[in-house]
Amino acid sequence: MNNIILIGFMGVGKGSVAREVSRQSKIMCIDTDDLIESWQNMSIKKIFAMHGEEYFRVLEKNMAKWLEYNVKKTLISTGGGFFKVGNIHKIGTVVLLDSPFDKIYERLLKHENAEKKLKKRPLFQDVAKAKSLYKDRKKEYRKIADIIIDVSDKDLADTAKEICKRTGI
Ligand code: S3P
Repeated sequence: MNNIILIGFMGVGKGSVAREVSRQSKIMCIDTDDLIESWQNMSIKKIFAMHGEEYFRVLEKNMAKWLEYNVKKTLISTGGGFFKVGNIHKIGTVVLLDSPFDKIYERLLKHENAEKKLKKRPLFQDVAKAKSLYKDRKKEYRKIADIIIDVSDKDLADTAKEICKRTGI
């Protein structure tokens, strides 16, 4: 089995979906932001604040190289900008979780920890800017994806089932 890499915009549910797929399929899951935070011993928010976005993108690229050479048969959820690392297809099968911006935002706001979820994302501090970033990335996500899953009207269990079915895990 190849690694499976979940990509998609901030707040679309990559981490939650990965955990549900992992639960259904017994395949282990890891998350690039979590790995970067452990590696740097610093939150993503703090990395952005102290070193800036460009520095974070370099960390993502280093993480992508490490994944390429060291990780196998694993489900990998990623930060919303990770798809740009350059070697993503060498890591595994790329699955896009696709949803319109308004639905992503609506779902984020409904979450019991909505404020916390928004606060920890440096690129989601201004909704208009986040929406514009979404617009810029939308086509790029689709271009790079091997598999596209429309998650806008699906619950976690159904999304996970579809991923298992379409990736053959
Ligand atoms: C980012 C998304 C974040 C995190 C960082 C940058 C982005 O992850 O990697 O704040 O560029 O879209 P989530 O997609 O989990 O919010």
